[in-house]
Amino acid sequence: MAHGRHARHRVDRLNIEVADDSPLSRWTAGQVEVGGWIRRMFAEGERLRSAHGDGAVIDLALGQPLDAPVVVRQAMAAAAAEAFPGRHAYMANLGYPELRERAAEDVDFSGMTGGCLAMTGGAAGAICLALRAFLNPGDEVVGIAPYFPEFRPYCETAGLAFVPVRADDATQRVDPDGLVRALTERTAALIINTPSNPSGHVIEHEEMSAIVDVIEHHNRRTGRRILLVVDEAYRNLVYAPARRVEPFEYYETAVLARSFSKDMGLAGERIGYLALHPSLAGEQTDRGLASCMRALGMVNAPATAQRALLGLGSWQVDVNQYRVLRDHARDAALRAGLEVAEPQGGIFLWIRSPWPDTLAYVSAVAERHVLVTPGIAFEVAERFRLCFTSTPERLTRGLAVAGEVAAAAP
Ligand SMILES: Cc1ncc(COP(=O)(O)O)c(C=O)c1O
Repeated sequence: MAHGRHARHRVDRLNIEVADDSPLSRWTAGQVEVGGWIRRMFAEGERLRSAHGDGAVIDLALGQPLDAPVVVRQAMAAAAAEAFPGRHAYMANLGYPELRERAAEDVDFSGMTGGCLAMTGGAAGAICLALRAFLNPGDEVVGIAPYFPEFRPYCETAGLAFVPVRADDATQRVDPDGLVRALTERTAALIINTPSNPSGHVIEHEEMSAIVDVIEHHNRRTGRRILLVVDEAYRNLVYAPARRVEPFEYYETAVLARSFSKDMGLAGERIGYLALHPSLAGEQTDRGLASCMRALGMVNAPATAQRALLGLGSWQVDVNQYRVLRDHARDAALRAGLEVAEPQGGIFLWIRSPWPDTLAYVSAVAERHVLVTPGIAFEVAERFRLCFTSTPERLTRGLAVAGEVAAAAP
């Protein structure tokens, strides 16, 4: 419990004052203040909707997937209806063995077996599992800003320090010199996210090679091996000509965190997996991951979602709808005179704030009932994020408003 009622402490990172008179721990109270931009925009959406009605608010702040395709919904319904002894019982912590084998096929890399896989509560669960299983409290984890804001709490709850390093703003690529400067004797992992939330950047061959060169060089110097955590929550949402590269071909001490939240529209069902490079797998690792699943309180990934994946003939779903919306949103943003990073994958536009004060701009846009997320949530203050999984009409209207506000003086 927090002590010193009515005392206040300062969270220096964002310069926000936090009341210390709540029953929450200081860390959690800090999270409510600094980590809550996306949820805060969500709450603002709820408020505007109840005041003005659903149709009056264009909420492009939260990263919701499109609805699950019919085949996926049918598989979920069939899985829910299944009945056999033990259907709802505890299971092996890392998931149904036959599903781990299916996921190994999905990874499609030489030497992959079910033993390299753990079914988890989404990519979030996979990242937390990897951090818990392979790192020690006090270690540092480097991430690339702009970054998915949950990386920091994933690290901090494991006793790890999260160290962001800025991507190059013009290309959104990792800046190798910045990365060199961020690595220390205590660095135990690097988290990269491709396609990126929020920038839409997809890491291709040259960039992956440069990242691996930097960490291999560092490994030789320190005598320890950095774990490369590749967050592939949006892996199937890569828009040609951008192309995914296989991280395991570049570096062995690597894990992939994958999800069915976005392409299959199953975010609420909490299903994904952690894939280990075969060189990290083995009986001891298996037992270690199983105990971490329990230690994290996940125990095992949800049974019904696992059964649904087993029931699906293919895990490839048509993502053309996403590409159409991406094109529509990007074109509308450009027409509105906004500067957008090239959205090569994922579900977001990463737009430069037309006003020097991004928070003031985002608030002015919100006054016109259009919600977007300020870049401060991703530790890049001069941009904002817009999620394009909406309707074309709403995207057109929302981006026209963003352009009109941009044209007005701050
Ligand atoms: C980059 C990134 N990683 C991980 C996650 C977590 O996804 P999941 O629902 O699979 O846990 C998200 C969700 O928005 C994300 O954007």
